[in-house]
Amino acid sequence: MTTVAPKSVDPEVDAIRHHYEVSNDFYRLLLGPSMMYSGGYWEAGEDLNAALDEAQYRKLDKFAELAGVSPATGRVLDIGCGWGTMLNRLTTVHGAGQAVGLTLSRTQEAFIAGLDNPRITTLVQSWADYKVADDSEKYDAAFCINALEHFVSSNLPPKERTKRYRFFFQQVAGALNPGAKFVLHTMTAEALPMTRGLLDDLKFLQRSEFEGCHIPHLSELSAAAEGLFEIDEVVNERESFAMACRAWLVLLAERRDEAVALEGEEVVSRFERYLDIFAYTLEDKFFNNFRVTITRR
Ligand SMILES: C[S@@+](CC[C@H](N)C(=O)[O-])C[C@H]1O[C@@H](n2cnc3c(N)ncnc32)[C@H](O)[C@@H]1O
Repeated sequence: MTTVAPKSVDPEVDAIRHHYEVSNDFYRLLLGPSMMYSGGYWEAGEDLNAALDEAQYRKLDKFAELAGVSPATGRVLDIGCGWGTMLNRLTTVHGAGQAVGLTLSRTQEAFIAGLDNPRITTLVQSWADYKVADDSEKYDAAFCINALEHFVSSNLPPKERTKRYRFFFQQVAGALNPGAKFVLHTMTAEALPMTRGLLDDLKFLQRSEFEGCHIPHLSELSAAAEGLFEIDEVVNERESFAMACRAWLVLLAERRDEAVALEGEEVVSRFERYLDIFAYTLEDKFFNNFRVTITRR
């Protein structure tokens, strides 16, 4: 079962830990060896589950390529780094010198420590509080892979949310060297009419799984980045995340008894419901999953 320290003083931190401090053994079972909790790049004709890990690594390699990471790259930053797969890949496959990951999850930090990679530093710290000490700590590339959805609270009024997204891009810009690339994967929401069933499902997501989570609109993000970054490319990769959710549902179904033994029926049922909601809302084009590549001015 999950073993975590007492609650923090910040309800937003507790909301993240509610989801991300379910045990690493459970996440291993759910996500498979690649331990990526985001969309993957499947090729036509590939089997969803047989190719899950390959699809995840392919995505990471594409992101590294878009950011120009090579053995000449000094420091890279992954904001919302999960279990460290991208940090590990950037340093071991792409040759980056040092990789720093930010997460709020102490169980993820423990998992990354187990990778035993001396080029990785994990900080259990929010993006909002993180600052480089001086220019020598600035990064040559940054990534944020399906984590921004957690960064701005849905409890804020729209104007305050806009300011918070602006603050996010200011924080990233402040950590990057001029000319450095920032590659972001994020779900966004379309302003489409809702059915009662969809409203119920969105309420479930907000109340039971991802309290305060706000899925942004693309326009909020482009306005927030203006003047700080130049936009290189924006691609809607909705199916990348829908397919990943479907693949995790298959893994969970195959090993459901073990999952229940680890975390209990309530947690497993919650995960089944939320993954299905994300899969179908992406498939129905209510949500998108954008890959955004931008350059620090
Ligand atoms: C869906 S997971 C994605 C993890 C990883 N990028 C991946 O693709 O597998 C979201 C991550 O964001 C982190 N996170 C949530 N809120 C955060 C915050 N305020 N500051 C830093 N990390 C945060 C969580 O701890 C988690 O690691």
